[in-house]
Amino acid sequence: MDTTNPRYYSQNRSFQHDLGVELLQQYMRWEEGDTVLDAGCGTGEICKYISQQPGVSSVVGLDVSPDFVRYSSQQNSSPNVLYDVSDISDASTIKPEWQGAFSKVVSFQVLHWVKDKAAALKVLHSCLKPHGEILFWVGIDVNKWGKISPGMASHPKWKVYLKDFEPNLFPWPSSDLVKESHSSYLLEECGFEVLSCHLKEQQYSFTSREQWKKTMSAVFRHLCYLPPDKHEEFLNDVEKMERDVLLLSGDYKFTDKNLVIHARKL
Ligand SMILES: C[S@@+](CC[C@H](N)C(=O)[O-])C[C@H]1O[C@@H](n2cnc3c(N)ncnc32)[C@H](O)[C@@H]1O
Repeated sequence: MDTTNPRYYSQNRSFQHDLGVELLQQYMRWEEGDTVLDAGCGTGEICKYISQQPGVSSVVGLDVSPDFVRYSSQQNSSPNVLYDVSDISDASTIKPEWQGAFSKVVSFQVLHWVKDKAAALKVLHSCLKPHGEILFWVGIDVNKWGKISPGMASHPKWKVYLKDFEPNLFPWPSSDLVKESHSSYLLEECGFEVLSCHLKEQQYSFTSREQWKKTMSAVFRHLCYLPPDKHEEFLNDVEKMERDVLLLSGDYKFTDKNLVIHARKL
């Protein structure tokens, strides 16, 4: 994940946004006075969207990237939205006033960047009010996308440039899923009742190769390690790898399975 260029990420996250909004519409029932935490809010578009839903009183967006938080505060501000820098897996970065403060937590496409998932879930649990809900959407080890980042890092042509690159991607382990994938050991251990847990097939049709390319450029931190004149060739190899694992097909149709968990604090 490249967090050095928030504007570029913001301009090329429609893929992420459309699927995120779809999940909110499917799973969240907003209630009068809702206080919402977006854990790993990125550039703030989802916070702004949530702040405009009927009943929602306030939204806090936390992200570990100071650049993303600065951009969110400038571009997606609203009187009832606050942004702050926090590492959701480090309780010491969470302000005391956020303990037990939220009726709902959402976290979209974040937990696969977090190594210590139990620590993050405990932090998010502590931020929820009793019976508060959490909805998260995360890459799991059976998805195709998770294979591309390490695959490109060890690619014979590119590994020479990527000696110092750490993939730092930690997909959710499928071994965590219980009861024919309808619950999660980890969530249960961390004090949640799992309301639903699905491996959801998601499709997104990029409008053009250019849109696909910009989206990939926004997330592939590998590019920071390559000379600019090699970027196009690198992206050609990304495309080839995505097509080989059937992540990408036909006219830039992207199909993958991600984990969606809706749970409640016990
Ligand atoms: C793929 S982006 C998703 C952003 C946003 N949720 C969205 O839907 O656009 C992943 C985000 O997770 C953030 N992130 C990664 N690890 C984090 C952590 N430990 N604590 C807080 N944010 C984190 C990154 O900085 C990045 O903004």
